[in-house]
Amino acid sequence: MKLVRFDTREALFAHATERFVRIGAEAIRERGRFLVALSGGETPRPLYERLAASAELDWAAVDVFWADERCVPPTDPRSNYGTVREALLDRVAIPEDRIHRIAGELDPLAAADAYEVELRRVVGADSRLDLILLGIGADGHTASLFPRHQALSETGRWIVPVHASADPPWRVTMTLPLINAARHVLFLATGAEKAAAVRDLVDGKPLPASMVRPTDGTVTFLVDEEAASLLEEY
Ligand code: 6PG
Repeated sequence: MKLVRFDTREALFAHATERFVRIGAEAIRERGRFLVALSGGETPRPLYERLAASAELDWAAVDVFWADERCVPPTDPRSNYGTVREALLDRVAIPEDRIHRIAGELDPLAAADAYEVELRRVVGADSRLDLILLGIGADGHTASLFPRHQALSETGRWIVPVHASADPPWRVTMTLPLINAARHVLFLATGAEKAAAVRDLVDGKPLPASMVRPTDGTVTFLVDEEAASLLEEY
């Protein structure tokens, strides 16, 4: 696990944008398309806005997925799809059939089943996403994999429904077998409310986010000064 600290959020998001575009361009060059899973929440919004303003990625060759979704309609302000749609997808030339959203408005099990079918159809035999963008919660959850939840033990399915103490409680999430097969995983953590989780992660505590360890890929944490404030200097 590689952790990179930034003095300012500005510097963090500039780096994240550059890294995202670099990984995307490499995937398109080598395999003809870029398979990326995005996250919701507030943290990545500046990245999405920067990506929308950057002309450097060939969006016609990008397939966008979501690491997780809250079970709400796409128009609900809590929808992860809605956040990305508004901050990024409405502003770039991506074909509609390359936007693969989780149907948050459906019954969670039905939505999970349908998304697993869609993912397997698009990703194919390779079974690997090029990049998964993740956040971390104050309790160490990532995607919608919450501490002590049975979804953390999933070994076969790529997508499962989850009920947790969160708003909204029903979620649909990628599981560790799919996340850990990725070529690259990128975590973003900003703000003092993430400091304890980032410290626990670095200390090796058994958080869901610590279980993200790609078997043949990279995992990188980008943290700002506030999120890094409880770390020893190193
Ligand atoms: C979600 C997520 C979740 C998120 C973290 C951080 O749908 O809630 O994907 O894992 O990334 O909770 O959220 P913030 O970026 O809003 O702090």
